[in-house]
Amino acid sequence: MSDTALITGVTGQDGSYLAEYLLEKGYEVYGLERWKSTRGKSRIDHLSDLKLVNGDLADQSSLDRAVREAEPDEVYNLAALSFVPESFNQPIHTGNITGLGATRVLDAIRKHQPNAKFYQASTSEIFGNAPDKTQSIETPFQPRSPYGTSKLYAYWSTVNFREAYDMFAVNGILFNHESPRRGKNFVTRKITRGAAAISLGLQEKLELGNLDAKRDWGHAKDYVRAMHMMLQQDSPEEFVIGTGEHHSVRDCARVAFDEVGLNWDDYVEVNEKYFRPAEVDALKADISRAKENLGWEPRISFDELIREMVQADLEQLQDK
Ligand code: GDD
Repeated sequence: MSDTALITGVTGQDGSYLAEYLLEKGYEVYGLERWKSTRGKSRIDHLSDLKLVNGDLADQSSLDRAVREAEPDEVYNLAALSFVPESFNQPIHTGNITGLGATRVLDAIRKHQPNAKFYQASTSEIFGNAPDKTQSIETPFQPRSPYGTSKLYAYWSTVNFREAYDMFAVNGILFNHESPRRGKNFVTRKITRGAAAISLGLQEKLELGNLDAKRDWGHAKDYVRAMHMMLQQDSPEEFVIGTGEHHSVRDCARVAFDEVGLNWDDYVEVNEKYFRPAEVDALKADISRAKENLGWEPRISFDELIREMVQADLEQLQDK
């Protein structure tokens, strides 16, 4: 019999790539979908074998039902309010979904499917103002946003359920990961779409916030592979997943505009409305443990990633 996986956040960038990856591996895949009167499923429309169950991370009974229905061997909790600036506007909602939501999923597994393996989508945002130049599992956590604090709560809930109930529950501390399926508000996609639109004469300028912020950006396809690998380990443990390199927002703009033959500096303007109440200045992953113990490393470089995103945006905008 094939293995069964349940993915929360299946309509998002990571959820859609992970569902694709697991279906290709022969898994039976269930995705938790929040009920909406209009459909927002463009990322998973092509996955005809994906089974959807209605549920919401705010509602324990719906999670209990989803776990009972899917009877999963593996559960991937990818659902969250994931846009950091919006978490400052909705700190309570963010705590409820991004923080408590993970605990609700863990509790549903504990009650109904205690042998299922659990993956929690943790994040480099829990490092926040990290004192170390590169961040590893030993780096102290100092989150700088309601999103980061909520993810830290979810992190410790995962560790706690593992220790208290002997569950196979792990956190993947993933650094930024992008793709042509990235939401349009996140900085890489905003830049690649902006560069594409400007080159086609559809837009004149691109307004950004802090150009000096540095992030360790990888490709989401590489990162869903790491999620799956973490649940195939003999014993549950945390891993940091990134590329080990970081680049500034300015660097990202430079590569994206270069791909369309333009100079970024002629089109990018800084608008303070995109600055955050508290910023995370620089993040860079130490991925030595992932390489050694997990046998994982990224295959797609930053340059390839940004150029792929620009090309995808050009195609989309030309089709309109
Ligand atoms: N969104 C955005 N828009 N960010 C901008 C802009 C802008 O116009 N201008 C500069 N930035 C800077 C932000 O201030 C931040 O320092 C950096 O670009 C990256 O911002 P985002 O792309 O929004 O991502 P993030 O780093 O805050 O968080 C993402 O990655 C985390 C780690 O994987 C999100 O996907 C999180 O959900 C995820 O946990």
